[in-house]
Amino acid sequence: MPTQPSRINVLLVGGGGREHALAAAIARSPRLGTLYTTHPQNPGIAPLATAVDVPVSAKAMYRLEQFCDHQQIGLVVIGPEDPLAEGFADKLTTPDRHVFGPVQAGAMLEADKAWCKSLLREAMVPTADGREFTDPDAALAYTASRSEPPVVKAAGLAAGKGVFVPASTAEACDAVRKIMVQRIFGDAGRKVIIEERLTGREVSVLAITDGRNILILPPCQDHKRLRDGDIGPNTGGMGAFCPSDAIDAATMSRIERDILVPTVDALKREGIDYRGVLYAGLMLTPGGPKVLEYNVRFGDPECQPLMTRLRSDILELMLGACTRTLDQVEVEWDPRPAVCVVIASEGYPENPRKGVPIRGIEQAEALHDVTVFHAGTTRDSQGQIVTAGGRVLSVVAQGETMADARTLAYRACDMIHFEGAQCRRDIAAIPAPPA
Ligand code: AMP
Ligand code: GLY
Repeated sequence: MPTQPSRINVLLVGGGGREHALAAAIARSPRLGTLYTTHPQNPGIAPLATAVDVPVSAKAMYRLEQFCDHQQIGLVVIGPEDPLAEGFADKLTTPDRHVFGPVQAGAMLEADKAWCKSLLREAMVPTADGREFTDPDAALAYTASRSEPPVVKAAGLAAGKGVFVPASTAEACDAVRKIMVQRIFGDAGRKVIIEERLTGREVSVLAITDGRNILILPPCQDHKRLRDGDIGPNTGGMGAFCPSDAIDAATMSRIERDILVPTVDALKREGIDYRGVLYAGLMLTPGGPKVLEYNVRFGDPECQPLMTRLRSDILELMLGACTRTLDQVEVEWDPRPAVCVVIASEGYPENPRKGVPIRGIEQAEALHDVTVFHAGTTRDSQGQIVTAGGRVLSVVAQGETMADARTLAYRACDMIHFEGAQCRRDIAAIPAPPA
């Protein structure tokens, strides 16, 4: 068992809105020594952390390992899925250094939807019925044979954009061709999953696990489609709110008993020592909650409202997961709800416009109970903050009620300006579809 000094140096891998929210939470911890970042170009993370001065890549892992040794990093926190799928956790863990985030074999839950599906089937976890294909002709024949247009998913990692929910069989076949023949997601489309379309309300249930104990975080709702009214292409997420009102205590117990516990047990049976976030994307169907997907890290943007509401020390929580003592960690949440609105670039998700100057961030941040997390931003040569990616900013507000939080979030959004900015106006305001 590694010794735990009272102060711990932390390396945070990743540089989006989720990681800015994690950096802010880590920076509040009384346990923190020095926080290091792989993404000092993020203007929100930069003032909170010291830059890693070696290249960060799976090919040159030894450089990062050396860096961690020299700086006596005691905890590595991995934000995004890609480094987890590339095995960063396996390589960076030592007797003196913990990694929050699963090993490569565990990250397959997200990186290989076909593997995930078979694990869920074996563990009898409720999920949409589906079949996997590596041959485009067989996939097309199966799609055309279905009475209803099925959902089509690239099996590999596609930045949250690899899922098509087509309105017709012709559209479904088109999705198969895009993924498997045109390879719009590259090798992530070598295999597809074709599955039944489920109906109901969606909810993100994130849990932290130490491989044995499970600590469920307050449920969140994400808004994946680009435009108001849940239309347009799927995105990484255009906003989120927490807690979701969709789940009552009985449903949550059912999710824990029928979904999360059997998943953690199945991972254990596979010999996978999973320590980190287990994120279940669920549909509350008339037949009960079913898994749409698993992610192996905090959701983006769900992490932003979650970290805003977290009152406890995030490092205690992460170290609890790493040292298998999660059952001894108490977690306290701010009872007030939080709403997060994403402001995206012109052209997102296909072709986001970069280098566009942004005004008004400081004014928005000055509002009480508002936090602006940087996602796709950077500073240009004059020090001006400009767009640098698709999802540019996450604006989070809290209030006594969800409606208050929502009103305040939009007041803050309206103070921020850049050419071509797009944000949904209905985050946290969608009427629930009938169950
Ligand atoms: P995923 O990345 O697998 O969560 O899929 C992205 C989005 O596609 C989900 O948030 C759902 O809105 C939708 N989706 C995925 N699978 C299904 C399904 N089987 N039935 C209906 N909608 C789905
Ligand atoms: N917000 C969805 C995700 O992080 O995958």
